[in-house]
Amino acid sequence: MTDSWWKKAVVYQIYPRSFADSDGDGMGDLRGIVGHLDYLAELGVDVLWLSPIYPSPQDDNGYDISDYQNIEPLFGDLEVFDELLAGAHARGMKLIMDLVVNHSSDEHQWFAESRSSKDNPKRDWYWWRPARDGMEPGTPGAEPTNWGSVFGGPAWKYDEKTGEYYLHLFSTKQPDLNWENPEVRQAVYAMMRWWLDRGVDGFRMDVINMISKVIGEDGSLRDGRLSAGAAYADGSDSFIGGPRLHEFLQEMHREVFAGREGLLTVGETPGVTVEQARLHTDPERHEVDMVFQFDHVWVDRGPDPWLLMPLQLTNLKAIFGRWQAGLADLGWNSLYWNNHDQPRAVSRYGDDSKQYRVASAKMLGTVLHLHRGTPYIYQGEELGMTNYPFAGIEDFRDIEALGQYRQALDMEGRSPDEVLTVLRARGRDNARTPMQWDGSPHAGFTTGTPWLAVNPNHTEINAAAAQADADSVFHWYRKLIELRHTEPAVVDGDFTMLLPNDERLYAFTRRLGGTELLVIGNFTGEPVVADLDLDGDLILNNLPEAPVDATIAPWQAVVYRRSV
Ligand code: GLC
Repeated sequence: MTDSWWKKAVVYQIYPRSFADSDGDGMGDLRGIVGHLDYLAELGVDVLWLSPIYPSPQDDNGYDISDYQNIEPLFGDLEVFDELLAGAHARGMKLIMDLVVNHSSDEHQWFAESRSSKDNPKRDWYWWRPARDGMEPGTPGAEPTNWGSVFGGPAWKYDEKTGEYYLHLFSTKQPDLNWENPEVRQAVYAMMRWWLDRGVDGFRMDVINMISKVIGEDGSLRDGRLSAGAAYADGSDSFIGGPRLHEFLQEMHREVFAGREGLLTVGETPGVTVEQARLHTDPERHEVDMVFQFDHVWVDRGPDPWLLMPLQLTNLKAIFGRWQAGLADLGWNSLYWNNHDQPRAVSRYGDDSKQYRVASAKMLGTVLHLHRGTPYIYQGEELGMTNYPFAGIEDFRDIEALGQYRQALDMEGRSPDEVLTVLRARGRDNARTPMQWDGSPHAGFTTGTPWLAVNPNHTEINAAAAQADADSVFHWYRKLIELRHTEPAVVDGDFTMLLPNDERLYAFTRRLGGTELLVIGNFTGEPVVADLDLDGDLILNNLPEAPVDATIAPWQAVVYRRSV
């Protein structure tokens, strides 16, 4: 039976530490979310996804979990969690958890045991390896492979206690779990069942396509490609979409999801290809409902990570077009511009100036939400929140920004200016500044000192102002969500990309039966004449004037419905 209610759904991602602080400690919490459930219900979203709220040393803001079956005290406890879950359900919203099981925290009991001795029963729950042959353990270059970690530095940490290294694709405090070991998998599945039994409605699965690693016959991992000027190699060939990934996901499905209804599972899968995504999301294969692909958020990234590449709209359209076509007959897309790892879309692909911020935020939302797939809104996106004006590295808190900055300066000879230019544009803290609820000091996020500074533009850009203004980005997102709920062509219509070679307009149709929707977005601050027939009922227009002579105004978005 296909239970694909989520094709009609819109998901809202909450980054709890930056959403709403109820107790004045400067850190968002679950009680703060409870206090804003009515706001989310007004927006009309169907599902809430919570970034991790489990006990954690917070080395990577909770993506380093030290206990999978409890709540981080900074955020609350299981009682408030149950209240939050019930409150969401009472308003017709589902709630999914972030599942971070490629790695745990090094402060998890499992790792404490694993690290304690070579013959501990949990030794093999993580990736322990000796130093490279013939090298002195703990010296530079003696790591078992040459891989770099995502947050800078090598992907291996030497542990003196037993004289071996453990693998950490992310921070040193995020040791990778060894999914080859069936006990690890069973422990994860049991934990997942525990949350589902508690009433949660599914999981967003953190870097789930990294859980299977390529292992040599002797148990070794192999070196990766080292590019010129880089301090460490890219080992991703050995851990993205590894040989047992499909097997593990199918096993998880059997052990955890089979026989349960109404769930949503979405895998975060950096580097996934359309072909792999078809396999992951084919309902007959029982893996996950959808995956997050990354091609469209890597489109402005060149071979040199410290060079900003301007957006080329034709590339962006080619990417979306490929994904729409690839998953047209099988599987399903997820759709997103933003999350807690990406800069703010309006600053990146739109124009966050006073003149065009609102129009371009609405245009981006329209283009995305009218694609085929399940849209994800990241907190503040519905307000058109922008990137933060970071002065220097001292304004950043993100372990990725700080780690990459150090590696680029200390080991790769980069200048602070070139690195900061990219971090200001791309850094993850852009998404993590506190939610802007109102124009008061700290934007109504906290009465204390926020853990990360509030964007000074909160006096103008905030939820209270947006709710009161019928022309706001907020009310526009409400309309987009409502359209998905009421117009079957948005959910099930075929997708056809138009004007693929146009660098300024993004245009496509969605067709279902006798209904066709024509969607056009202008990605520039200039009027552009569309080489298209603009006929039908104009059901959405983000500007006061309808196009005349097929001229699409700066950052305009229009949707026409017509019979075909
Ligand atoms: C995912 C998360 C990111 C985190 C990383 C390690 O990419 O979205 O925030 O740093 O995994 O868990």
